[in-house]
Amino acid sequence: MIIAVDGPAASGKGTIARALARHYGLPHLDTGLLYRAVGVAVMRAGGDPADPAQALAVCDFPAEMLADPALRSEEAGRAASIVSVHEAVRDALFARQRAFARQPGGAVLDGRDIGTVIAPDADAKLFVTASPAARAARRHAELQAGGGTRSLEAVLGDIYARDARDSNRAAAPLVQADDADLLDTTELGITAAVQRAIALVEARR
Ligand code: C5P
Repeated sequence: MIIAVDGPAASGKGTIARALARHYGLPHLDTGLLYRAVGVAVMRAGGDPADPAQALAVCDFPAEMLADPALRSEEAGRAASIVSVHEAVRDALFARQRAFARQPGGAVLDGRDIGTVIAPDADAKLFVTASPAARAARRHAELQAGGGTRSLEAVLGDIYARDARDSNRAAAPLVQADDADLLDTTELGITAAVQRAIALVEARR
């Protein structure tokens, strides 16, 4: 069984994808980490993530890089959303994601284009959203827990900027697949959101 989980930043898609993977005993890939790895590699090389050639040159990074804690930072997320606009970068990361999705026994992948591009044949597709205010509040709380000092207003601004970049790009923009189930987590806690996600998957398989 292949489960595709897509949605905007801080919608809860990562938490839901991990919980589904645990529930069904499937391997999980957070595909945002691939774009974060490319963004961080370009910045470490002193390059510009907006330059497609520089981003493409670091797409062949070793798998161990996905465990680098630096990939979790807000700067890495911003760099990721810049390199992910380049079609050549998306093409370079395609095979890795497709192979993960197609492994025997199935997999759970979360990202922006799993149900539309990487695994259009997925057995279940969830499009996870929440209001920008709810997503900003969650991200802000996470940042504060990690010792961050960015204001709620600034985090909300980041969310709007990221949504605009992810939704308006030409290559694989963030859109709900026609056959995806919408899961709005604005009013849901983690347990309720996961229960709802499992119910949606069950109804599809
Ligand atoms: O999900 P996460 O916040 O880690 O993703 C970081 C960025 O990587 C996103 O804002 C998006 O621009 C890009 N991304 C993408 N396609 C994916 C996963 C992430 O374009 N499948």
